[in-house]
Amino acid sequence: MRFIVVEDYESLSRKAAEFIGQEIISNPSMVLGLATGSTPLGTYRHLVEDAKSGKLDFSRVTTFNLDEYIGLPPSHEQSYSSFMWRHLFSEISIDPARVHLPLGLFEDAEAACAQYEKLIEQAGGIDLQLLGIGNNGHIGFNEPDDKLGARTHIVRLTEDTIQANARFFEKESEVPREAITMGVGTIMQAKKILLLASGWSKAKAIQQTIHGEVDTEVPSTVLQMHRDVTIIADFEAASLLDLSEVYICLKEYQPPRE
Ligand code: GLP
Repeated sequence: MRFIVVEDYESLSRKAAEFIGQEIISNPSMVLGLATGSTPLGTYRHLVEDAKSGKLDFSRVTTFNLDEYIGLPPSHEQSYSSFMWRHLFSEISIDPARVHLPLGLFEDAEAACAQYEKLIEQAGGIDLQLLGIGNNGHIGFNEPDDKLGARTHIVRLTEDTIQANARFFEKESEVPREAITMGVGTIMQAKKILLLASGWSKAKAIQQTIHGEVDTEVPSTVLQMHRDVTIIADFEAASLLDLSEVYICLKEYQPPRE
């Protein structure tokens, strides 16, 4: 695990966009796993700027999003599909046929989940998966539990997550109670993982992700078993870490070449 601590949210966003940009430049037809939530918004803003200035070309990039609320059509303002189109896809030249999100409306849940896994497999797997983190350590929508779903599956959201995500809806009662999410196995199969964390509310989850025992009750701890994970956190999110560890990790960090 590489751990990069930056000063603030803006530096985190810039560094994350540089990281993703380097991957696209070295492999223009890469498969990029994407995340929603407020954390990656600054990263997407920088990626859009870099695409508009001609520094980045998304035309051959294939994307797969982590998750979607169940019951919201893609056109719903709070669906993750419309979030992604609003903040990234409609601002860059990307082939819509290469953009994938799990569908939150379906007749057969099992078939919808299996189909999403098949699409990822057909694309050759995910090269780089971007992740945010829930206050409770969830990744995608893999919530704390006594066992975690390996592949794309349907989950019941915890009260904690419903409350945290209520800020995007008019009323808490409007937050969907279920979601479809890539499983932990799907995420762990990505060749590289980049996790972003910003703010005090993520400090405990980041501490557990790095120093905690691997435990399904804190889903992000499974990332300790992945061979290529980079975490970028701001000072607030890194505030509960053992400073000597952070120092060692910072020394290990090699900035991407310009
Ligand atoms: C949602 C998403 C996660 C995201 C999390 C944190 O629950 N399903 O993928 O990481 O929110 O969101 P934020 O970045 O807004 O704190």
